[in-house]
Amino acid sequence: SVFNHNVDATDKGEFRHYMMKEIYEQPNVISACLEGRISDSKVLTSCFGAESDFLKKVENIHIVACGTSYHAGMVAKYWIEELAGLPCSVEVASEYRYRKVAVPKNTLFLTLSQSGETADTLAALRMAKELNYLTTLAICNVPSSTLVRESALTLLTNAGAEIGVASTKAFTTQLTALLITSVAIAVENGLSAEKEKTLVQAMRSLPACVNEALQQDGHIKQIADKFANKHNALFLGRGAMFPIALEGSLKLKEISYIHAEAYPAGELKHGPLALVDEDMPIITLVPHNGMLDKIKSNLQEVAARGGELYVFADRETDLHNEENITFSEVPKVEAILEPIVHTIPLQLLSYHVAVVKGTDVDQPRNLAKSVTVE
Ligand code: G6P
Repeated sequence: SVFNHNVDATDKGEFRHYMMKEIYEQPNVISACLEGRISDSKVLTSCFGAESDFLKKVENIHIVACGTSYHAGMVAKYWIEELAGLPCSVEVASEYRYRKVAVPKNTLFLTLSQSGETADTLAALRMAKELNYLTTLAICNVPSSTLVRESALTLLTNAGAEIGVASTKAFTTQLTALLITSVAIAVENGLSAEKEKTLVQAMRSLPACVNEALQQDGHIKQIADKFANKHNALFLGRGAMFPIALEGSLKLKEISYIHAEAYPAGELKHGPLALVDEDMPIITLVPHNGMLDKIKSNLQEVAARGGELYVFADRETDLHNEENITFSEVPKVEAILEPIVHTIPLQLLSYHVAVVKGTDVDQPRNLAKSVTVE
């Protein structure tokens, strides 16, 4: 079988830290997440259990989560609105749970959680169950968790136990599960069988694409040295790459304690440009799509102000090393996979920066793996 499950979480094996072991497990656990959920050309809706008729009824989606899981939800909004044409909102659980929420008819309540024990996410679910939702679906990594027990439907991410506090493989398998869910909803909302097949075949190629992205590890390790004495970093992305920029900045701040922020690249001129100088590394995610020219002009805006640019892009973008621009290659993949594949170099970057700085990679100060209190 191409699906090769690796779930031995307690042994670091050849790796110095759990985080790195978990980064390298991603091709295998993404396979495990896809296993039994897609055929050669279709998403198998049986993965949602006996009550999969919600896929036919859903007209709206509310996604609620915290931290890294929230960033996965933000990516799904782009996928669901593009593929299914249904409105999708995404909110952090700590906000959602304390406000009056308007629920349009036939709305799916979707939570994302690695642990299934995050206090705010559980409170949001309990509140949602009192509201007029179509049903509740949890995308979660822990089968025995409270979130799974209390949700009507579950799609497990099958990433195996994640030990590193900074979430890596749990995030990319959440994205994989969200892709399955987005396509399943889209099929009931006019997605052609031909388009479904293209998307499913892209999903099948995902473990190999992630593996290819991991080949840049040595190159990224070299770049990391340049970050060790920085105090700030700015991450830029557009479209579904904006949440990946947010996730990249979260990883860097979590484990290397460098202050990092993420902006949609088009917002640069509305504030963050004032921060740009030669001490500010700017990490830019460049997908090869209709936004390429826009992002290239954003890069020029930064270069003109002396900013130090780190560009993550595939070769077809025609970007390369220049004065003030450090180019890192990301494999060319189907557009739908770009957010997942671009995540890998940012995980590696934050890991290597933390190692250079000598911080506690697996147990960053002040943070907990599972936040079970408010
Ligand atoms: C903590 C962890 C994060 C995680 C967040 C949400 O802050 O350190 O890595 O993203 O909780 O956790 P969950 O288990 O709900 O995904």
